[in-house]
Amino acid sequence: MGVRVRQHVNPLSQKFQDAIAPPNWPEIFAQPEQPLYLDIGCARGQFLLDMAQLRPHHNFLGVEIRRLMVQSALQQRDELQLSNLHFLFGNINTSLDSLVGAQSITGVTIQFPDPWFKRRHQKRRVVQPALVNELATCLKPEGLLLIQSDVLEVAIEMCDRIAEHPAFTGTTPLYSWLPESPFPAATEREKLTLSEGLPVYRYLFQKGVEAESK
Ligand SMILES: C[S@@+](CC[C@H](N)C(=O)[O-])C[C@H]1O[C@@H](n2cnc3c(N)ncnc32)[C@H](O)[C@@H]1O
Repeated sequence: MGVRVRQHVNPLSQKFQDAIAPPNWPEIFAQPEQPLYLDIGCARGQFLLDMAQLRPHHNFLGVEIRRLMVQSALQQRDELQLSNLHFLFGNINTSLDSLVGAQSITGVTIQFPDPWFKRRHQKRRVVQPALVNELATCLKPEGLLLIQSDVLEVAIEMCDRIAEHPAFTGTTPLYSWLPESPFPAATEREKLTLSEGLPVYRYLFQKGVEAESK
């Protein structure tokens, strides 16, 4: 019998407040000096498993709050013998600033995050002002930040929270959603949404060259 994986977990729950311990990067990446990309809420990691094969000269890190998803992603990574890919279990909202150094990441993706529709649950959404602040610190100048959602309200809220930070500039006018992903791979949710003929709301930000975090 398959193991049931919970659809959503509450990132505000006490059991998800510990920061993820930073790994020893030379132990997890064969070429630790390669540009690093971070996928937040990577689930089973399909997007990064594809990206790591397509771009062997980049390193990829997925962070996911559901432990079973991370186990599955790591198992596939090992089967494919990818040495430029790693997955970590934990809550990104309590972990980003201690996990990676300032100006250490080339690109970040936040794709189809849990919508948490109820007003009283909106604090559970991953893109909170504190996370945007930390992203501004850990991205390199000119680093990219892609957001995607199939829920317009969530895409607009993510855009608004990121756009109000002075470090980030939209690469197109605000809310002019990109027709295609800038990346050569798609997430599981992205594929499903497109296969159902439903819209994907995507937007790409870039960190300014001179930008400092607030
Ligand atoms: C709807 S799924 C989308 C998964 C994948 N990005 C995709 O597009 O197919 C959102 C994922 O984000 C994870 N997640 C939500 N909040 C998180 C947090 N604070 N830290 C890490 N992962 C989180 C969830 O567990 C879930 O796997």
